[in-house]
Amino acid sequence: MKKTISVLICLILSQFIQAQSLNTSHVTPLDDARWISSASSTDSTGGPCPIFRREFNVKQQVQKATLYITAHGLYEARINGRRVGNDYFMPGWTSYDKRLLYQTYDVTDLLQTGSSPNKIIATVGDGWYRGIYGNQQRRNNYGKDASLLCKLIILYSDGTKDSLITDGNWQNTTGPIRRSSIYFGELYDANISPQGWSAVKVDGISQVNLQPYNIEPVTKQEHFTPQRIFVSPKGEKIVDFGQNMAGWVQLRVKGHKGDTIRICHAETLDKNGNFFLVNMLHCDPTDVYILSGKGEEILEPHFTYHGFRYARVEGFKPTKNNCVAFAVHSNLQHSGTFSCSNEFINQLQHNIEWSLNGNLFEIPTDCPQRGERLGWTGDAQVIFRTAAFNRDLHLFFNKWLLDLTLDQAVTGSIPKVIPDTYSPASKGVKRGVAGWGDASTIVPMDFFTVYGDTALLQRQYPSMKAWARYELSRTDPSTHLWTDWGYGDWLAVGEQTDSVYIDQAFMIHSIDLVLQAADILHIQDPEIPAFREALRQCKLAFWNAFLTREGLLNNNTQTAYVLSLQFNLLPDSLHDRAVKQLIKLIHDNNDHLATGFLGTPYLLHVLSSNGQIDLAYTLLKQETVPSWLYSVKNGATTIWERWDAIKPDGEFDFYSLNHYAYGAVGDWLYRSVAGIQPMAPGYKRIKIEPRPGGGLTWAKASYQCRYGKIASEWRISGDHLIIDVEIPPNTEAMVVVPGKEGIMVTPGSHHFETDVTSAGSF
Ligand code: BGC
Repeated sequence: MKKTISVLICLILSQFIQAQSLNTSHVTPLDDARWISSASSTDSTGGPCPIFRREFNVKQQVQKATLYITAHGLYEARINGRRVGNDYFMPGWTSYDKRLLYQTYDVTDLLQTGSSPNKIIATVGDGWYRGIYGNQQRRNNYGKDASLLCKLIILYSDGTKDSLITDGNWQNTTGPIRRSSIYFGELYDANISPQGWSAVKVDGISQVNLQPYNIEPVTKQEHFTPQRIFVSPKGEKIVDFGQNMAGWVQLRVKGHKGDTIRICHAETLDKNGNFFLVNMLHCDPTDVYILSGKGEEILEPHFTYHGFRYARVEGFKPTKNNCVAFAVHSNLQHSGTFSCSNEFINQLQHNIEWSLNGNLFEIPTDCPQRGERLGWTGDAQVIFRTAAFNRDLHLFFNKWLLDLTLDQAVTGSIPKVIPDTYSPASKGVKRGVAGWGDASTIVPMDFFTVYGDTALLQRQYPSMKAWARYELSRTDPSTHLWTDWGYGDWLAVGEQTDSVYIDQAFMIHSIDLVLQAADILHIQDPEIPAFREALRQCKLAFWNAFLTREGLLNNNTQTAYVLSLQFNLLPDSLHDRAVKQLIKLIHDNNDHLATGFLGTPYLLHVLSSNGQIDLAYTLLKQETVPSWLYSVKNGATTIWERWDAIKPDGEFDFYSLNHYAYGAVGDWLYRSVAGIQPMAPGYKRIKIEPRPGGGLTWAKASYQCRYGKIASEWRISGDHLIIDVEIPPNTEAMVVVPGKEGIMVTPGSHHFETDVTSAGSF
């Protein structure tokens, strides 16, 4: 009975949250435009991309022309042959059944005045809306249609206005893009130009909640020319671009009409130097072009991307001048820098940044190459703090967290991936998983710590509570233990931590975060006493279930100890014992880590905050598997999904080489090695506490918080430790020189020196 009532309350509250979010709906410029699609009733997913067109005259001088546009699928629009904007994968990726974003472009310069007509053309690709998802083999997830919705508003110099909307006056056909799929590449036949235009089907006004696009768009960014072009032992023609990335290859070719070029993408070569596709599970990373033979042709895909460093080319002779790889990802501001005297650690930082580049792609994804590329919640929560040091995530994660609340089940459960492509339109069963669903509490709180954004925390608070309530609803009423199956400490090596242990630890942590959020927001929430009591019961249950008579944990793993210390799960009297046991476990493992996705982000923090800075550095600097520098030593240019994705004997199987989760150590580089930490939300107060060690002779980092640049740099010169810091305006900072009491400093530059011996051992 008690359970039924709480499920009911959950239901009402979750619906309330969703209604609140959807109530953000407002009048949009597109409200009188009509969705248009092809009149054919057959399921055209996976086929040629429809093209829509409309001609119109502009008779007078234009002061400003604005295009509002969105699609079911992905669109690329051109006016008079010129591309509208530089963005890709528009209209972006949201929980399409709950909200769809539209873009606004100033297209004044693309219009022509006079008697010759203007032409607006938009091609629509399958995208995430209806395209086939690689690992789910599912098509038409949100709908079968590839449709367009747009409105052009022209303001003339004399102050009058004209507008044009998608409606029955448009026509459609198909063109050179014969198929295009995010996961299965693109086929482009340059010989097919759009013709045979026919009337469009007018589908009515928009029924979904339209909202303006308000994050940094995906754009083409860094580019790489071939570093090496060679023929593999198997006779494959291969280009090495030197960097693993998300994006595509652009070709400039002259050939004959009908010549076919195939370009396939891979992250690595096998141990014999041949092209390796085994880890490209559930996708076909191949783009195919059929040439028109009309002079030089510049070829690149439109609605797909690949995760790759190598390209295998057929039907084309690659040179350093005729092909270039573009890294394509969300155009996020770089917010921080880190470097130090150890080149391998610098390469690790490089690899972290490149895994962020490849996976901050409209949403935070797990990987950019195989048939997933989904918004795995667990991956997002483990990387958030590191990502925020390196990229400005304020808008990006604000958007993703809103979709998280919208896709949250009425039970409070959080889907494994956001947008929830596994159970579109909320029809599927959504069972929450510990460490993954907890993204709903961990990310908003981390977001608040980093950006001091109370409004976001306020918005997420009902969702945080609903998740904590969901976790509690899954506990056994007699034991207060959450015993659902989960992913555990995903991809940990050696002895595994029980999934029940992980469940209970993360549930306690989430309840704790809900209580912290209520405090921060000064919310008089009648539910709080019940959460406090639940926290007490769940901790007791944790002690009963996992503590031995000797005061140790019956899960004798690094992750079990790390989580118990990080989440404050133990009675105070057992704290030191737990630290000792963690140290012992690390020593027993030959001074190597043994943690997976969930334990790794906290491992070095727990060590350094418990007097074990030397051991933390020892782990950071290990070069044999499992360790961060193992992949670096083996030529990685991004972070691998598994510690041993490529085995010491050169063999490997199907793991991704571009998964950012283990890059979560980057947070420790900034917060401990360089010592930049927020002391109040949003860095209104800052702590600079560098922790020299590990044989490093210098390290420096900077972070652009909303008040300005924070910088911390230390170097050892002779027997002197020199520290320089920079504190932005309107903040105050405490600087802790090793071995000394912290002192408060004002904005500006400050210089400190101390002798190495008084600074402790490093
Ligand atoms: C993804 C992960 C994800 C996991 C869940 C994988 O297939 O690539 O990164 O978190 O599934 O266990």
